[in-house]
Amino acid sequence: MTRHGSRGIPPTVIPPLSIRLTTPRLVLRPPRTTDVGEIRRLLRHNQAHLEPWSPAPRPGEDPTSITEVSNSVLRQRRDWKNGRAFTFMMALKTDPSRFIGKIALTGIMRGAMHGAYLGYWIDVDHQGRGLSPEGIRAVLDFAFGPAQLHRVQAAIMPRNTKSIRVIEKLGFRREGYAERYLQIAGTWEDHILFARTREEHLASELRDDARV
Ligand SMILES: CC(C)(COP(=O)(O)OP(=O)(O)OC[C@H]1O[C@@H](n2cnc3c(N)ncnc32)[C@H](O)[C@@H]1OP(=O)(O)O)[C@@H](O)C(=O)NCCC(=O)NCCS
Repeated sequence: MTRHGSRGIPPTVIPPLSIRLTTPRLVLRPPRTTDVGEIRRLLRHNQAHLEPWSPAPRPGEDPTSITEVSNSVLRQRRDWKNGRAFTFMMALKTDPSRFIGKIALTGIMRGAMHGAYLGYWIDVDHQGRGLSPEGIRAVLDFAFGPAQLHRVQAAIMPRNTKSIRVIEKLGFRREGYAERYLQIAGTWEDHILFARTREEHLASELRDDARV
């Protein structure tokens, strides 16, 4: 059995909700209650774009309604404070009050795992410019840095070629194939499982630094 970095289990850390991540083109921060209107605009504009890749809402539920969006922002802020999930809204630096997507680390497990699931999406009109991988890279720096996580996992449907391309560009490792893994748009869909650990992330950062 291979042993990696036997420095003991990392502490459980909850970075402050005031955190702000920046990249050359983007700014990312947790959602606030004052963002509800802007998040509703973004969700409404992207309903058709996101539907094939999202769990179906419960019957009679409108995930873009004031009630649902307000509840989800409150839940995301509560989950952040409890260390259960870290959700970031993403905007262009040139227009920071207009959101263009979301990146989240959910289902955070501490103890011997110190892992999380990665989820992401971007506005239909902002695709194809490498913005998602740029934002996710910053969230991975956050996950393996201030949030002290050891493993970030992603599950992607085999036909979601754009998302598979994103995760490959980020250097995730393919770990397996899970049949009927998640219920997406009402169907239990197979998913390819990918992961990245802190050791892999730090090694690739060192390689990037060496290239500069
Ligand atoms: C998957 C997703 C996040 C990609 O975001 P993005 O910011 O466009 O990512 P990139 O710009 O790096 O593009 C990734 C790949 O998608 C493809 N792609 C992007 N835009 C495209 C377009 N308009 N037409 C055709 N292919 C496109 C390209 O193959 C690209 O790879 P390349 O850079 O090697 O050419 C985005 O398409 C999305 O939000 N999809 C719906 C939600 C979703 O699937 N989330 C992930 C669930 S696991």
